Amino acid sequence: MRVAMIGTGYVGLVSGACFADFGHVVTCVDKDASKIDRLHKNIMPIYEPGLDALVEQNVREERLFFTTDAKEAIADADAVFIAVGTPSRRGDGHADLSYVYAAAEEIAELIDGFTMIVTKSTVPVGTGDEVEEIIRKKRPDADFAVVSNPEFLREGAAIKDFKIPDRVVVGTDSERARELMRELYRPLFLNETPILFTARRTSELIKYAANAFLAVKITFINEMAELCEAVGANVQEVSRGIGLDGRIGNKFLNAGPGYGGSCFPKDTLALTKTANDHNTPVRIVDTVVEVNAARKKAMAGKVIKAMGGDVSGKTIGVLGLAFKQNTDDMRDAPSLDIIPALIEAGAIIKAFDPEAMEEAAKLMDGLNYVENAYEAVDGADAMVILTEWDQFRALDLDRIKESLKSDIVVDLRNIYSPEDMAKRGFEYTSIGRPS
Ligand code: UGA
Repeated sequence: MRVAMIGTGYVGLVSGACFADFGHVVTCVDKDASKIDRLHKNIMPIYEPGLDALVEQNVREERLFFTTDAKEAIADADAVFIAVGTPSRRGDGHADLSYVYAAAEEIAELIDGFTMIVTKSTVPVGTGDEVEEIIRKKRPDADFAVVSNPEFLREGAAIKDFKIPDRVVVGTDSERARELMRELYRPLFLNETPILFTARRTSELIKYAANAFLAVKITFINEMAELCEAVGANVQEVSRGIGLDGRIGNKFLNAGPGYGGSCFPKDTLALTKTANDHNTPVRIVDTVVEVNAARKKAMAGKVIKAMGGDVSGKTIGVLGLAFKQNTDDMRDAPSLDIIPALIEAGAIIKAFDPEAMEEAAKLMDGLNYVENAYEAVDGADAMVILTEWDQFRALDLDRIKESLKSDIVVDLRNIYSPEDMAKRGFEYTSIGRPS
């Protein structure tokens, strides 16, 4: 099949490369000429493990193309995917749909023959209806179907999530579109991926409900971690103890400094806005948004407390800045709350992240970015782990101990064992576990 992918952001690029790898002919379109230029040179706009190799191979085998010119790509396509950004609208937290609607206007002018217009961007319920109206108004005679096909990709694991998904959700009432979507995802049937066909509005809501539920799960375990700290229990064992119950499941029960990233914060907020607009508030999600924001803010206090209540003039070696491992994404990262608060309290920060320092430097100044973990802790009064990169799980702890001025380690991702750290003579603080 021929696919046009509008938008070469995170979702568009990963989905485009994976569809090409399935054997389809994919043209990725973006208005940003320098991005397209770089993609022609196989320079990725984001860090995502395995993406450069996947793009390189599919370009070489002539299944994947990049262009700034939407015309040909759309006219030839059986499916045109909308994968543009839907950021939080400034001021009210609603999803900003201006890019989606602009794409719809453009697509309307260019489609030729029966075409599926598929929304991959995360869009509020009813957006598909709007897209359909925009196209119908411009091209009353056009033969098309608007389909919702949300993505469930995690940054850092996006290729695997695309190729071995838990499910594929397709929202449409057009039988013809259903057939084409089946064809598009056919390679997944080999591993028996469930494909769930629903009405379009249901599919749009499934995406928000999934992200909100995961945010609830994380926030729940974070509050349990607080309680564990108060009563002397261990949150990792609580997670395991409840997660073994098949009804609860063991995933997304790692307590941490609060969720961040480009999706959960934006999507939980957008869901609460939609729900309020329809006079059916989702109070659990409202509370989760509030609790998570407060948690990220409270984490600096936890570090300060572990350092004896005063960090003025003290040096802190920070390991990890990205909102999670395997990404350079800094959007809503807990580090953006924690580091400025520590600087405000008088601390000197030396920070290292394997991929996110360039992005971090655009958002935070007043700290020193260094070349590796050991340089960050050299002569520091404490080591603070903010992101769970694999390379931080296997540090030479003897070397760390020698490099640090004092023995304080604050681990906001629970990657070390309290017993082991105590045995090695560290003053170790983690999340929801007795030290
Ligand atoms: C999330 C969803 O997991 C994807 O399914 C979805 O497609 C994506 O949003 C999206 O809407 O595009 P992502 O934001 O890449 O993916 O990252 P996650 O791995 O879900 O992590 C989100 C945040 O939750 C991170 O800050 C992470 O550190 C935190 N988290 C996750 C925890 O604190 N504990 C956990 O147990 C899991």
